[in-house]
Amino acid sequence: MKNVYVNTIGCQMNVYDSELMIKILKPLGYVQIDSIKKADLIIINTCSIREKAAEKTFSYLGRIAQAKKEKPDQIVVVTGCVAQNLGKEITRRAPYVDIVLGTRVLGRLPEYVKKVSEKRDRIIDIEMTEGFDEIKGYEEPKETKVSKFVTIMRGCDNYCNYCVVPYVRGREISREPESIINEIKSLIDGGTKEITLLGQNVNSYGLKENLCSFPELLHKIKNIDGLERIRFATSHPKDLSDNLIEAFKNIDKLCDNFHLPVQSGSNNVLKGMNRKYTREIYIERIIKLRSVRPDISITSDIIVGFPGESEEDFNDTLLLLKEIEFDSLFAFKYSDRSVAPASKFKNKIEEDVKTDRLARLNELQNEISKKKNIIYEERVEKVLVESLSKRQSTEISEDIKLKQWMGRTSSNKIVNFNHTEDDLIGRTIEVKIEKARANSLWGISTN
Ligand code: SAH
Ligand code: SF4
Ligand code: F3S
Repeated sequence: MKNVYVNTIGCQMNVYDSELMIKILKPLGYVQIDSIKKADLIIINTCSIREKAAEKTFSYLGRIAQAKKEKPDQIVVVTGCVAQNLGKEITRRAPYVDIVLGTRVLGRLPEYVKKVSEKRDRIIDIEMTEGFDEIKGYEEPKETKVSKFVTIMRGCDNYCNYCVVPYVRGREISREPESIINEIKSLIDGGTKEITLLGQNVNSYGLKENLCSFPELLHKIKNIDGLERIRFATSHPKDLSDNLIEAFKNIDKLCDNFHLPVQSGSNNVLKGMNRKYTREIYIERIIKLRSVRPDISITSDIIVGFPGESEEDFNDTLLLLKEIEFDSLFAFKYSDRSVAPASKFKNKIEEDVKTDRLARLNELQNEISKKKNIIYEERVEKVLVESLSKRQSTEISEDIKLKQWMGRTSSNKIVNFNHTEDDLIGRTIEVKIEKARANSLWGISTN
């Protein structure tokens, strides 16, 4: 038996890919552990979306260098978006890295690890192949989590001007429905109740390959026995079709949440970003979604300080926040990525202006998030339990022991609640919400 340690930086796609790598390394005898020191194999799955994320790779590699001094036969793999972007630049800066593996050749990992462990060698493979072949023939382990990601597409063809993804994840490709359904079924056999379908723009699923549309895929998936909840991420507003909105009317298993990144509320900025929709189109899509699912929670991504963003443009974003009232937001300061066109744009925004705008935006959003969550107070919500709460404030009275559990509502709000039972994981519990905070809800179970 050998030990593998995996450090995953970045988005849900990387989380999925890391699990996939662990799965395909099993036949070689590798078991996942959480100690760098004891590991025979170390995998760093990297992210390049913003400068800060990319820097994490090298600061982390510094730590690995220390560990490797004590255990020189350790094999070090760097994969993910920084690996794809920098290739052999990584081994130049960190010569103790054995394998640099691109985002589209994950299936070759076992072969490379075998090679390097037999005869010390350095392998750099960042070829942009197509396909989902690496998944074939590998069964899910029989025990799994309540909520899991399933990648249905790789790559992106949208070329937003700020974004590195099309360059590091390659062209968009969709996975066969049958392969997706088989993976979901095996996850359900292992105890999964909720899946999140992943792609950079799920709305264009299947179109290139003429497989089936995304709403059609949802209709196929909804019939899988034992699957209770379906989520997906991410959608591009320009491709959000009426058929997908219609699916929220017809598919009960589709959760009450929609993540629809808007990036900016200013038409000038949206144009500069190459997003291909306007503020007005975005608002119209949200109104339509809310007309079929009034309780749907809407979340989004925003970039502040894109090149050329004036105070007036930024104000348009603040006004959009007030108009839509998102349930929550992921907001970022624009970060130059040298492969993306916006890095060459003039009128860059000063760092302190970006910092100030981000703070103003977050302040406004906090108020809105709190207001949106307060609506839940006194309501009874169905909560799918994922785990024990992180903060285990076990309240012990004379004869009752209360454990604190964490789960989510259909609208993807985190709920913490107390319950006397020993194991609630995977069960749907009715919880009366007593207290709303900006990022979570607190309640007591009613069953
Ligand atoms: N495919 C998704 C988003 C993927 S990246 C979509 O189209 O919406 C996740 C988020 O990172 C983006 O929505 C964007 O808000 C942010 N992001 C991407 N590139 C960035 C950059 N150069 N600087 C700052 N934020 C960025
Ligand atoms: Fe990046 Fe745009 Fe593709 Fe999203 S749609 S991954 S933001 S290029
Ligand atoms: Fe980062 Fe790559 Fe995801 S750049 S956000 S890990 S697609």
